[in-house]
Amino acid sequence: MAVMNNQRTVRVELGERSYNVVIGAGIRKQIAQLVPATAKRAIVVTQATIPFSVEEDLVNAGISVRTINIGLGEEFKSIATFEMIMRECASFGLTRNDVIVGVGGGMVTDIAGFAASAWHRGIAVVHVSTTLVGMVDAAIGGKTGVNLAEGKNLVGAFWQPRGVLCDTDALASLSPRETRCGNGEMAKYHFLVGDDLLGLSLIDRIARCVEIKADIVGSDEREGGRRMLLNYGHTLAHAIEIATEFSVAHGEAVAIGLVYAAHLARELGRISDERVTQHRQVVEGEYGLSCALPNGVHHDELIALMHGDKKALSGLTFVLDGINGVEPVTAVSVDAVRSALNRMEVR
Ligand code: GLY
Repeated sequence: MAVMNNQRTVRVELGERSYNVVIGAGIRKQIAQLVPATAKRAIVVTQATIPFSVEEDLVNAGISVRTINIGLGEEFKSIATFEMIMRECASFGLTRNDVIVGVGGGMVTDIAGFAASAWHRGIAVVHVSTTLVGMVDAAIGGKTGVNLAEGKNLVGAFWQPRGVLCDTDALASLSPRETRCGNGEMAKYHFLVGDDLLGLSLIDRIARCVEIKADIVGSDEREGGRRMLLNYGHTLAHAIEIATEFSVAHGEAVAIGLVYAAHLARELGRISDERVTQHRQVVEGEYGLSCALPNGVHHDELIALMHGDKKALSGLTFVLDGINGVEPVTAVSVDAVRSALNRMEVR
């Protein structure tokens, strides 16, 4: 990691597709340096609630800009939104030399990245991340996509950005809930590497999470193995999000999923009761997140949804803690999954 005044730079090493993630206050102003020199046009994908824009900086750099505000809420992370963006690209005359810029949280950067992966079979994309979840996870590593009614992120592509700007100015406007969601993803990194992330300043905490993720992505871009670890807590989390029609937000669901993963690992004899308690202490005590299942969600529905997870290559698949640390575990029995669900508190 490079440290310069109030700026941190982490490199995602992917050969000729390597790029920098720059974190700092006001860092969005660097946008023009990241777009390709060939770009004459930029489509900016954003949302009406995003606290700042990058259009002026792009226009000042001689680039024509068209802005697309996509809908608020996970239901807009859809094929319909993707099609709308594709049609705007067509009417704006976006070429292979041009660029798409995603300015927003994970939903925006996921859709902007997917649009860039598909338009003319792939053009440049730059992300300006404005949420904690986006900065520590979604904007980094090139996973892009949209949801189907059948599941989250089922349609998408791996498409790496040319660069990512994490502008910490945006964090002041986050709601307590959005901050909680970021904490859910950070708690995940806590279990992956055991660092005392909460002991760091905010900028260094974000940079350290980016560094952990960059290291994993650099070694397993397409999730053939190690990258699956980033899904710690996510198998149940995705099911909860869908079962509650996204009234439980992603980071909140990850927090519940982390504690559930500990119960499941205990059920399978992989960890001790003490380690389960540690999970609860970290998630609830240190990161301030609820780890109880939402009331009214049926276990059968969660199990059916977890069968549809993208990791489920060979039966029910989870990332679970154990004596070798956190690792993917396939063919987990439905009985164990159900017993672990029964161990969870309900709120
Ligand atoms: N969000 C998990 C990953 O990027 O692999």
